[in-house]
Amino acid sequence: MFEKKYNQPIKLLNTFGFDVLARCFIRAYSEEDILQALNDEEVKMGALLILGGGSNLLFTKNFDGTLLQPLMQNIDVVEDNTDSVLLRVGAGVVWDDLVAHSVAQGWYGLENLSLIPGMVGASPVQNIGAYGTEAKDAIEKVQYVDTRDLTLKILVNEQCRFSYRNSIFKQELKGKIVITQVYFRLRKNGKLLLSYGDLQKTVEGMGGASLQAVRNAIIDIRCSKLPDPAEVGNAGSFFKNPFIDKSLYDSLLQKYPTMPSYLADSGVKIPAGWLIEQCGFKGVRRGSVGVHPKQALVLVNYGGGTGEEVLALAREICSTVRDKFGVELEMEVNIA
Ligand code: EPU
Repeated sequence: MFEKKYNQPIKLLNTFGFDVLARCFIRAYSEEDILQALNDEEVKMGALLILGGGSNLLFTKNFDGTLLQPLMQNIDVVEDNTDSVLLRVGAGVVWDDLVAHSVAQGWYGLENLSLIPGMVGASPVQNIGAYGTEAKDAIEKVQYVDTRDLTLKILVNEQCRFSYRNSIFKQELKGKIVITQVYFRLRKNGKLLLSYGDLQKTVEGMGGASLQAVRNAIIDIRCSKLPDPAEVGNAGSFFKNPFIDKSLYDSLLQKYPTMPSYLADSGVKIPAGWLIEQCGFKGVRRGSVGVHPKQALVLVNYGGGTGEEVLALAREICSTVRDKFGVELEMEVNIA
């Protein structure tokens, strides 16, 4: 049976730590719970927002609708072959618990995604990624409840239209589905992916290349640059890294020869953190909110700040980057 509460404070349910209320808050422990909750007259009438770990959400005001949190906790092995396992994982499993479990079992595929905050159900939505790996590389299929006809559906990887921090769940299916189970294909004799930045060097410094060493190295790197949401409110990268076309890239490179970049199919990707730092925002503070001093891509709430304040700072950053570089930054965080 699902739990329903009214006027629920959600300060502890969003990693920015914004102190707002949700008119209705539902915790669902099974697909059955979700189907029942979606049939509830009160829920049907208002806005619906699905909450995972609240690590990619910015609330600018009280939420006047239903916040639904799927909490299915299963990690089931549904296939076990010589080369790989197929896992069915509940949307409510904490993402890093899944990574830790997989590494401990010797299953390859998720280790580079260590310590990303949030829950498994959110991982396909924005196709979480770090250190050269994206969730799409391991996701085989995604099961969800379609809120329009209250049926369970499955999309296989190719149907999810995954791309950089994007998927069908953020586009056509936005607001129409509740992800319940994600299937991951993990390798038993996989290869470690160490090509991103100085990952290789860090891993070697930790006593050689193994799944656990990669996980430890990534935890180390993340902890050295990214603020812990338990200590300073934040939602990880606030902006996506923008793609720019080759001609803009060439002209910027003439002016800024040390500009970092990654080659991608749809142009050249520039680290937004670098662009923001060049505009002088790294470490700036506006009252209780600001730009993290070690990673300019992360906006923070030092305590008592509001979503409106963070949004105002984000808009100021976007317009300054646009004026200086002619590059449009896109927010990665969802505004509620
Ligand atoms: N950089 C700066 N100044 C900064 C930040 C970065 O000059 O303040 C430069 C760095 O020197 C480096 C480049 O930008 O040359 C890339 O920096 P980093 O490796 O820290 O990665 P990122 O591009 O800033 C992306 C993801 C992160 C992910 C890291 C590692 C996005 C939007 N962000 O950041 O994801 O952890 O790569 O793979 O793609 C997240 O999504 O919440 C997140 C933290």
